[in-house]
Amino acid sequence: MLTDKFGRQFHYLRLSVTDVCNFRCTYCLPDGYDPQQTRGFLSLDEIRRVVNGFAALGTSKIRITGGEPSLRKDLPDIIAACVQTQGVNNVALTTNGFRLDEQVQDWYDAGLTQLNVSIDNLDPRQFHSITGHNKLETILSGIDKALTLGLPVKVNAVLLKSLTDSGVSAFMEWVKHTPVSLRFIELMETGDNPRFFEDEHVSGQRIQSKLLREGWVSVDRQFDSGPALEYRHANYRGRIGLIMPYSKDFCATCNRLRVSSTGKLHLCLFADEGLDIRDAINHSDPIVLQQRLISLLTQKEQKHWLDERKTGATKHLAMLGG
Ligand code: GTP
Ligand code: 5AD
Ligand code: SF4
Repeated sequence: MLTDKFGRQFHYLRLSVTDVCNFRCTYCLPDGYDPQQTRGFLSLDEIRRVVNGFAALGTSKIRITGGEPSLRKDLPDIIAACVQTQGVNNVALTTNGFRLDEQVQDWYDAGLTQLNVSIDNLDPRQFHSITGHNKLETILSGIDKALTLGLPVKVNAVLLKSLTDSGVSAFMEWVKHTPVSLRFIELMETGDNPRFFEDEHVSGQRIQSKLLREGWVSVDRQFDSGPALEYRHANYRGRIGLIMPYSKDFCATCNRLRVSSTGKLHLCLFADEGLDIRDAINHSDPIVLQQRLISLLTQKEQKHWLDERKTGATKHLAMLGG
């Protein structure tokens, strides 16, 4: 098992398969995707090699991220490749939901086990003003399809100052009847959004206090859970979670490593510029990649740099899928 010098074990890989995105979320890609960006994304065969290398070192969960992963035509093959890897028992996908309604059946058939969808506001006009797309209705329909298939669904809502109390209430009303895990995420500062961050960042603590006041109870973390603190309530079919990267000890439970769409290992979302491992990925001897991963992990730092307001090379999260 991959273990760092602080004793944290890494059994969860977040694998970005493209950094292209078709949305232009105000906090992430307000000007849209830059077509001048370098391409050369990992091929399906390279993805297979990466996943095999991590699985040989104890990784059991893979989350496929982007950009927007469904912009890759071979996404079902990528899912299947992860599912077929020995040792991997959980293959998850984070999507903006653009193609969810039309493709979720294919993803499910390929063996997907978990789905995370971003919805920052349940008001169609607000949704449009954040993402630049009128897709809310089909995304909600795609979520219904996923739930009918039996896929566990988590929904991500970035917590913005402009999300009003009635916006929060609309989410809570939805969760009353819909068995999803809704997570409010504190806005993180990236290289591209410092002004936006100044204007829109709010702490998740207000929502946390509201939940506790209203009788929500905290749920124990699973070993392969992400960073959300989850709460449940007897009167609600869904759950509510909070992702608060600015809170104390957020990094203590870190269990994940990241590989970018061009084959760089990121030991943290914020603390490094990415370490090129593509040569090791393509080496004919698979042991070379495993040895490289073990050796690079010694560089992992204890915590991210967000508190010092240093974003490193992280211009926006579409680079790395969060
Ligand atoms: P699961 O529990 O597997 O569903 O994972 P998750 O909640 O980490 O996945 P998702 O891709 O839906 O990410 C939700 C939010 O959490 C995104 O905004 C990510 O950027 C953020 N996030 C996930 N992991 C980390 C982390 O290690 N550090 C920080 N700062 N943020 C993270
Ligand atoms: N801060 C917090 N969350 C972000 N996301 C993208 N950029 C940021 C940011 N700066 C979220 C998206 C998506 C998830 C993968 O990351 O909304 O739900
Ligand atoms: Fe929005 Fe995610 Fe696309 Fe960024 S990568 S613009 S957060 S959908």
